[in-house]
Amino acid sequence: MSNEKKLYITDTILRDAHQSQAATRMRIEDMLPACELLDSIGYWSLECWGGATFDSCMRFLNEDPWERLRALKKAMPNTRLQMLLRGQNILGYKHYADDVVEQFVKKSIENGIDVVRVFDALNDTRNMEMAMKSVKKYGGHCEAAISYTTSPVHSEEYFVTLAMKLEEMGADTIAIKDMANLLLPMDAYSLVKKLKERIGVPIHLHTHNTTGTGDMINLMAVQAGVDIVDCALSPLANGTSQPATEALVATLKGTERDTGLDLAKLSDAAAHFRKIATKLKEQGSLDPKVLNVDTNTLLYQVPGGMLSNLISQLKQANAEDKYYDVLAEIPRVREDFGYPPLVTPTSQIVGTQAVMNVLAGERYKMVPKESKGLLKGEYGQVPGKVNEEVRKKAIGDEKVITCRPADLIAPELDKYREETKDMAKCEEDVLSYALFPQVATKFFQVRDGKVEAAPAEAPKAKADPNAVRTIYVEDLTAAK
Ligand code: CO
Repeated sequence: MSNEKKLYITDTILRDAHQSQAATRMRIEDMLPACELLDSIGYWSLECWGGATFDSCMRFLNEDPWERLRALKKAMPNTRLQMLLRGQNILGYKHYADDVVEQFVKKSIENGIDVVRVFDALNDTRNMEMAMKSVKKYGGHCEAAISYTTSPVHSEEYFVTLAMKLEEMGADTIAIKDMANLLLPMDAYSLVKKLKERIGVPIHLHTHNTTGTGDMINLMAVQAGVDIVDCALSPLANGTSQPATEALVATLKGTERDTGLDLAKLSDAAAHFRKIATKLKEQGSLDPKVLNVDTNTLLYQVPGGMLSNLISQLKQANAEDKYYDVLAEIPRVREDFGYPPLVTPTSQIVGTQAVMNVLAGERYKMVPKESKGLLKGEYGQVPGKVNEEVRKKAIGDEKVITCRPADLIAPELDKYREETKDMAKCEEDVLSYALFPQVATKFFQVRDGKVEAAPAEAPKAKADPNAVRTIYVEDLTAAK
């Protein structure tokens, strides 16, 4: 890759595009008719699995995520298939034991994944170690991601140092994961330029177009020499999703960074997904609001998805008038907690704590267990300094964990095998259960004809199905 200037494209149409715009509701039958065409386009990779798709498959679509992966691999044998993995959290919301992480990665690769993008919400590399090691062990392409954010401790140098560490740990590519679209175009230029100077492996950029800066970010990164960029085919591009593939391909046509991709083919593929987008709209999974440019993120440095969660939390508590108070409280909580990047699950933890601080009328009078966990080091090392007074108020004299959190978790795989011995048909089933015990149990019962499938319901709100958030809403009601 190093001797060419060509820009490579990853298309997210089968994963992040519909996760960000349509609550992860695209089905395998929506994908398969376009797969042969997608496979012939010449993408660097197709992101098609992981993230929230695994949960959503079983929870809402009555689909086996492993079966989906095998079908995709069969239909697209020539293109790298890519997934997103939350390090030690795998595809769930808590830390799992090392044996579960290893087995999950092994089975993902065995069933068809080529590229595993590994990230950690706190950028604690110890939470990425086991996943990265396993990807290498089972022959996958290990892409390590830095979770981009802005704060007094997140300088450009911080991210460059982090990327160098990840390269040292064996990353085959480094991704800049700008999940909240906080990376500004000029900063993207500068960061990519520095990374290209200091990092030997290719740099892969992932951003969104929530605040309307996505295309500019990509273009500036291309100018700075980024190797691979994430885009989404136009029918599910822009807004909360990625910038459109066709637009970037056309922009670079005839330049030294020409992607070499055929616009006519992309247009044919887009024609298919336009029908799917229409269907998702009709069934209520795609709210056209996701396409609006939302500049609040630029103003408050709070990710767009977090703002909509906040509004719904406040609505549930009949306290919508406190919106701006909460908005002002978020940066204070984030500072107290040591400036975690705001991404699942830290965005929910900080957001909920801010809501509670405002509603209770006293800061840290109510502290949910997830906040305590973060302050106790259960999620790993936070990037900055924790406010010790706040920590004391929240967890008293409880001991703070400083080791790699997973070192405290005993092997779990055998326990899960035992618990599923009457319902799991294969090791993949055991893993589905390990991640989402209730959802998987219900899914198995329907699959095996023991109970009838509940009718599919339209998503109530945007965003990923999130167990953590449900807990929070309950806590919130208790706080009132
Ligand atoms: Co994303």
